[in-house]
Amino acid sequence: MIERARADTTDPRVTYEVADAAAWRAPERPDVIVSNAMFQWVGRHIELLPGIADGAARAFAFQVPGNQDAPSHALLAATATEFGVTDFRRVDVREPVEYLAALQRPGWTVDVWESTYLHVLQGPDAVYEWISGTGARPVLARLDGAEREEFIARYKAELNIAYPPQDFGTVLPFRRILAVATRDQESSA
Ligand SMILES: C[S@@+](CC[C@H](N)C(=O)[O-])C[C@H]1O[C@@H](n2cnc3c(N)ncnc32)[C@H](O)[C@@H]1O
Repeated sequence: MIERARADTTDPRVTYEVADAAAWRAPERPDVIVSNAMFQWVGRHIELLPGIADGAARAFAFQVPGNQDAPSHALLAATATEFGVTDFRRVDVREPVEYLAALQRPGWTVDVWESTYLHVLQGPDAVYEWISGTGARPVLARLDGAEREEFIARYKAELNIAYPPQDFGTVLPFRRILAVATRDQESSA
C-alpha cells in the first residue's frame, strides 16, 4: 500500500514512512496528526493516545470502527468457535466516553462522537466480501483446506440471514467512533 502511495504521489511535500503505531512518536511537531481506521488493531491504544496527541502542535484526530458487537462480528466469533478457533486477534475498541476521558486534559478541547453509516453493498455474499478483507482475516488465516471452505460457507449463510439482500442491495450498518482533540489557543506552542 505504501509503495503504491509513493508511486502515485507527485507532491514533493508528501513522504511516507512505515512504523508501528505502538512505538511511533511524531519526529517533528506537526500541526495535525490524523489516523483513520488503524488504532483498533493496536492493543491498549487508549493508553497511547494522550502521548500521540502531545506530538501535535494544534490537533489530533482519529476514527476507529465501533462495530465489534455487530452481528457480523458476533457471528464471526460464534462460527469460529464451532471450528475450534477461539484465540484469534480481535480489535480493541473502547466506548466514545472512554476516548473523551483519555484525551480531555487541561489545555485541550475534545469532541468525540459516533455515527452509524448505512453502507449499501452490491453483489452476492456482500457482507462476507466486505468483512473477509478486514475483521475476518485473523480467523481465515487460522483455517485451510476443506475446513476453511466449510467455515466460509457457514459464515456466509449466517451473514445472509443477519443482513438480508434487498432489491437495492445489502445494508451493512457500520458504527464508527470519531475523535478530535484540539489544543486551546493560549496553550499552543
Ligand atoms: C483498515 S486499514 C486502514 C488503512 C488507511 N488508514 C485507510 O484509512 O484506508 C488498517 C491499517 O492499520 C494498519 N496497522 C495495523 N496495526 C498497525 C500498527 N501497530 N501500527 C501501524 N499501522 C498498523 C494496517 O497495516 C492497515 O493498513
